[in-house]
Amino acid sequence: MPLKGKKILLGITGSIAAYKSAFLVRQLVKAGAEVKVIMTPSAKDFVTPLTLSTLSKNPVLIDLFDEESWANHVMLGRWADVMLIAPLSCNTLAKMAHGHCDNLLLAVYFSATCPVVVAPAMDEDMWHHPATQNNIAKLQSFGNKIIPAEKGELASGLYGEGRMAEPETIIDFIHTHFFLPQPLVGKKALVTAGPTYEAIDPVRFIGNHSSGKMGIALVAALQQKGADVTLVLGPSREFYSFTGINTVRVTSAEEMYRACMEVFDKTDLAVMTAAVADYTPVVKAGEKIKKKDSTLTLELTKTKDILKSLGEKKRNGQVLVGFALETNNEEAYAREKLAQKNADMIVLNSLNDAGAGFGHDTNKVTIFEKKGQRFDFDIKSKQEVANDIVDTIIRLFYA
Ligand code: CTP
Repeated sequence: MPLKGKKILLGITGSIAAYKSAFLVRQLVKAGAEVKVIMTPSAKDFVTPLTLSTLSKNPVLIDLFDEESWANHVMLGRWADVMLIAPLSCNTLAKMAHGHCDNLLLAVYFSATCPVVVAPAMDEDMWHHPATQNNIAKLQSFGNKIIPAEKGELASGLYGEGRMAEPETIIDFIHTHFFLPQPLVGKKALVTAGPTYEAIDPVRFIGNHSSGKMGIALVAALQQKGADVTLVLGPSREFYSFTGINTVRVTSAEEMYRACMEVFDKTDLAVMTAAVADYTPVVKAGEKIKKKDSTLTLELTKTKDILKSLGEKKRNGQVLVGFALETNNEEAYAREKLAQKNADMIVLNSLNDAGAGFGHDTNKVTIFEKKGQRFDFDIKSKQEVANDIVDTIIRLFYA
C-alpha cells in the first residue's frame, strides 16, 4: 500500500474528467490513503457527492458558507499531507493563478500549508492557449506540482493533448514525488538528447538515427528523484510532456555545445545522451547545391566534443556521465572514453544487442565507472533503463 496512512485532500472541479474521480478515490483508498473530498459547485454536475462520500467514507464538502466548512477551510489544508486537485479545469486554474477565491475549494487552496499537486483536464486548444500555459507556469512558480495532461481521445471527440492523467498515473506521481526519498532535491542536472543536424546547404543536412527517447526517459527519471533539469534537445520528433523542465531546442553540434557550455557552471550533474555529429561540412552552401558532376565531395571538419569539453571544465563535485554506442570492442572503447573525456561514468549500449540502440523502445546497457566497477543490466524499456542509470548515479555519487 504505497500511500498507507497518508492524508489526501482531493479537490474536484467542473470538468468532464470528473467522472474518473470516483475511480480515483477508490484507488487512493485502496493504496492506503485517508481521503477527504472537496468539490466546486459545478463539479456536482459531473459526479454526485453521494458517490464520493460513500467511496471516501467521509462527508464531501462543497459550500463555502456552510457553517462547518467555513470553520474548517484552514484546518483542511493543515490536515492533509497533500492536496490534489483532479481534474483541474481551465476556470479553476485561472482563479488559482490570479487569487480569486469564490468557493470552498479555492479558499482551502489559498490557505493550504501542505504541498499542492494538480492534474489539469481540458480540450487541447484550451490547454495550449497561452493564457492557460501562463497560468500553469504561475502555479509552478508558487511551488505547486503539475501532473502533465496526456494525449488521447478528448470529450470533444477530437484526439489530442489535454486528457487528465489516469488515476494510476496520479497515484504513482504522488507516491514518487511526495513519499519517496528524493536524493536529488536541490541538484541541477543537464541532459543532452537526440541527434544533431549539420547543414550542407539550405535543404540538406548530415544527421543520424537518434530518436532522443533515452534522454527524454532520463529527464523523467531525474525529475522524479527531485533534480531541477535542463534538457538540451536536438531535432527529435519524440513526444514528451514534462512540466517544470527547462528545454533548450538546438539543431547543430555547435549550438548544442554552446547551450551546454552556458549552463554547465551551474550544473551538478550532466548526462550526455545526444548522438552528436562528429563532423560537420566545412562550407555550408548558402544556396541549394545543384546536381552537376557524377561525384560530389564534401569536406568535413571535426565538431567540438561536448562531453570532452565539459570534462575539461569539470570542478570537484560535478558529476559527468557519457554514453557510448559501439559495435565492436565495446568494453575497451567504453573505458577509453571514460578516461579520455574525464567522465565519471560511461553508459555503454552495444548495437550487437537485439533491442538496443536507436529508435527502439527498449535498451540494454552496461555501466562503467571511473574506479573500475562495471554494472550489467538486462534488456528493459528505456524508462526502466533510465531509472537504473539514475539509481546507479545516486548510489555512486549521492548516497
Ligand atoms: N559526444 C559529445 N560531443 C561530440 C561527440 C560525442 O558530447 N561531438 C558525447 C556523446 O553524447 C556521448 C559520448 O560523447 O555521451 C560518446 O559519444 P560517441 O559518439 O559514442 O563517441 P565519440 O567520442 O564520438 O567517438 P567515436 O564516434 O569515435 O566512437
